[in-house]
Amino acid sequence: MDLSPANPDPPARPVHGGIKEAELRELGLRLEDCLDFSASVSPLGPPEGVAEAIAAVDLTAYPDPHCLALTEAIAAHHVGDGVSIGNVIVGNGSTEIIHLLTRAWIGSPPADCNPSALLLTPTYGEYDGAVRISGGSVKTLTATRRSDGFAWDTSAVTVAIAAERPALTFICNPNNPTGVLMAREQLAMIADAVASVGGLLVVDEAYINLSERRADADVVALAAGHGSIVALRSMTKDYALTALRLGYAVASEPVIARLAVLQPDWSVNGLAQAAGLIAIADTAYLERARAAVAASRNCVVERLSDLGIRCYPTAANFVLAQVGDAGRLRDDLARRGLFVRDCTSFGLPDCIRIGLRPAEDCAKLADAIAEVWNEEPQP
Ligand SMILES: Cc1ncc(COP(=O)(O)O)c(C=O)c1O
Repeated sequence: MDLSPANPDPPARPVHGGIKEAELRELGLRLEDCLDFSASVSPLGPPEGVAEAIAAVDLTAYPDPHCLALTEAIAAHHVGDGVSIGNVIVGNGSTEIIHLLTRAWIGSPPADCNPSALLLTPTYGEYDGAVRISGGSVKTLTATRRSDGFAWDTSAVTVAIAAERPALTFICNPNNPTGVLMAREQLAMIADAVASVGGLLVVDEAYINLSERRADADVVALAAGHGSIVALRSMTKDYALTALRLGYAVASEPVIARLAVLQPDWSVNGLAQAAGLIAIADTAYLERARAAVAASRNCVVERLSDLGIRCYPTAANFVLAQVGDAGRLRDDLARRGLFVRDCTSFGLPDCIRIGLRPAEDCAKLADAIAEVWNEEPQP
C-alpha cells in the first residue's frame, strides 16, 4: 500500500491581540487584575439586558442553525440600506465569515480570476491566514507613507486588481492597525475594478460603528445591491460581546447563499444569538459608545503627545503610536498588568496599538507609559 506524502506544514496562525492564559501564568498575574488594551472593543461593555438574556437561554436546546430571529433583526436594522433577510448571514464572529469567503472564492475562483487575494497592508492578519488555509496566494499592496498616516493610493489599488485579477480583495475600513478610513467613493471605484475582473470585494467594517466618520464610508447599502461587494460587521466589537463572538455579512442574495451552504450548522451559539437580539434593539448604545471612544482617544493622544510619542490620526477605536521598541514597551506594560498590542506582526516593530477602553483606564495606561518612558526614554 502506498502512503501518500505528508502534507506540507500548515500555514502559521495569524497573531492576534487579547490576553493569553500562558502569559498570565508566566507573569504571575490574574486576569481580573489586568486591563486589556490589545483587543479593541466597545468601551461600554455589553448593553443592558444582555446578562439577563443569556441567563434565560435554555442550555439544553440547540441554537437555531439559521439564526432566523437575529437575521430578521439585523435586516430590519439596515432596512434603510435596502437590506432584507436574504442579504444577511450571521457568523461566529466576522472571522468565521472571512473563512467562509476564502473557502468559497479561493477554493472555486470565478472563471477569469486567480485563486488569490489582494490585501491592503498592514492589516488584520486573519485575511492572510484564511487565504493560505484555503490554498490561495496572497498579493499585498503596502502603505508605507507615514506622513499620510499609511493611506493607500486608490488608483494603485485598481491597477493591482486589473493586473492580478484576484478572486478576493480585502479592505479593512477603518483599517486595523492604522485607523485609515477610505471614503465610500474610493471604495465604489475599487468595487468597479473588482467587478470588471469578476472578483469580490470584502469590506471589513469591524470598527466602523465606533467611528465618528462612518457616514462617509459604510458600504452596507452598496453591498446589498452591487453583487461584487460584501460588508462585514462585528457585533463582538460593536457591543463588547467579545467572549460570545458574533458577526454578520451583508451582500447580494447569491453571495449570501454561497456562504450559507458552507457554514456548519449551529456555529452561532444560543447565548450569542440571545445577546445579539438585545444588543441590536438598543438603538442608543452605539452613539454612547462613540462618545466614550472620543473621550478616551483625546486622553490617550494628549498624554502620549506630551511625552513626545507620535500618534497617527485614527478613525477607529484604537490608536497607533510610534514608540521605538514596541516589543520592549509592550512587555514592560504587561508586567504591570496592562496589555497593549505590539505591532511587529503587522510589519511595524516600532508601533503599539492601544484599544480604547474607558477614559479612566486610558489614564492609568498613560501613567504607566509615562513611568516606563521616564525610566528608559526611547528615540
Ligand atoms: C479587522 C477585524 N476584523 C474582524 C475581527 C474579528 O472580529 P470577530 O470577533 O467579529 O470575529 C477583528 C478582530 O480583531 C479585526 O481586527
